[in-house]
Amino acid sequence: MAFVKACALSELEDDTPKRVELGGVPVSVVRTEGEVFAINDICSHANVSLSEGEVEDCMIECWLHGSSFDLRTGKPSGLPATRPVPVYPVKIEGDDVLVSVTQES
Ligand code: FES
Repeated sequence: MAFVKACALSELEDDTPKRVELGGVPVSVVRTEGEVFAINDICSHANVSLSEGEVEDCMIECWLHGSSFDLRTGKPSGLPATRPVPVYPVKIEGDDVLVSVTQES
């Protein structure tokens, strides 16, 4: 599992997703509730960037139709999305946020 630097920890504001591309994979990096999560940036319902949505209670909301996805599991909390979004392991090393997109968890 290869971890690559996604961004600096100090760049992340709480509950403000940051979109990055890692090996061609769009990823939304989110710092919330004292942890950092990485979730695929594309909603499983349509081609919408999740990083443009709001974060609350460890969920990220798709702004288009309102499905929220659990940042820990990628599972949607309700319709219209029915499929989970991939989430990725995160490691913090100093001020580096490292994400592995090579294996979905
Ligand atoms: S595009 Fe995300 S819920 Fe419809």
